[in-house]
Amino acid sequence: MVELTLPKNSRMVTGKTWPKPEGATNTKKVQVYRWNPDDGKNPRLDTYYVDLDNCGPMVLDALIKIKTDIDPTLTFRRSCREGICGSCAMNIDGVNTLACISGLDEAKGDIKIYPLPHMPVVKDLIPDLTHFYAQHASIMPWLETKTNAPAKEWKQSIEDREKLDGRYECIMCACCSTSCPSYWWNSDRYLGPAALLAAHRWIVDSRDEATGERLDDLEDPFKLYRCHTIMNCAKTCPKGLNPAKAIAEIKHMMVERIV
Ligand code: SF4
Ligand code: SF4
Ligand code: FES
Repeated sequence: MVELTLPKNSRMVTGKTWPKPEGATNTKKVQVYRWNPDDGKNPRLDTYYVDLDNCGPMVLDALIKIKTDIDPTLTFRRSCREGICGSCAMNIDGVNTLACISGLDEAKGDIKIYPLPHMPVVKDLIPDLTHFYAQHASIMPWLETKTNAPAKEWKQSIEDREKLDGRYECIMCACCSTSCPSYWWNSDRYLGPAALLAAHRWIVDSRDEATGERLDDLEDPFKLYRCHTIMNCAKTCPKGLNPAKAIAEIKHMMVERIV
């Protein structure tokens, strides 16, 4: 389990407890981190009771239920509801994951929900991912070529295409980077597991012609080498990916090109 650390702008106070829905006999207690930059108050943990007989099965369903029926001021991101957009990433019972693919029945008792840890908070469950996305952009997440473009398309063998498996599926949810202690303490300079997994995806792409430049750019004591193989990233990734392995492979390529 990923150790829970509060978001950056936090000194929690006791929040409001909302009454149980009238007539409900099967309820789940859900506690949610609340913070509004406009009211000047400290963050708090509000308590809601969700009627499980009148709610979908996932944590995201409970949040939507709370927002629709109880408290319209609750703020969170979501889009696809099927684990492919990455926008509903949050910390649920101490684990960074996607609310839309986390079952309400996975938690034995009450559920506590916080934004992704160690990120500035925009409001409630919404972290500010500006820096995270800028780091992703910095690894040039596109095909870099020098030769003239082919008439039709850049071809790739089946074997070379398979080298992208376990990398291209990343949905940039940030669960891994925000569970990584090295990223918590050095996110200004360490790229973190998500950006490095993306970097590896382009480094191993047989069609790309900027492999040397990509490795040169990562040859830095902070950008790459702050990974200490703690493995939180692989443990928490809701898509089952292993950024730590990709980072180890980049380090191996660095050594190989020296010897
Ligand atoms: S293996 Fe590396 S990237 Fe993954 S959590 Fe540990 S330090 Fe962070
Ligand atoms: S590697 Fe996994 S946890 Fe990290 S951003 Fe990609 S999908 Fe999310
Ligand atoms: S809403 Fe898209 S991943 Fe959860």
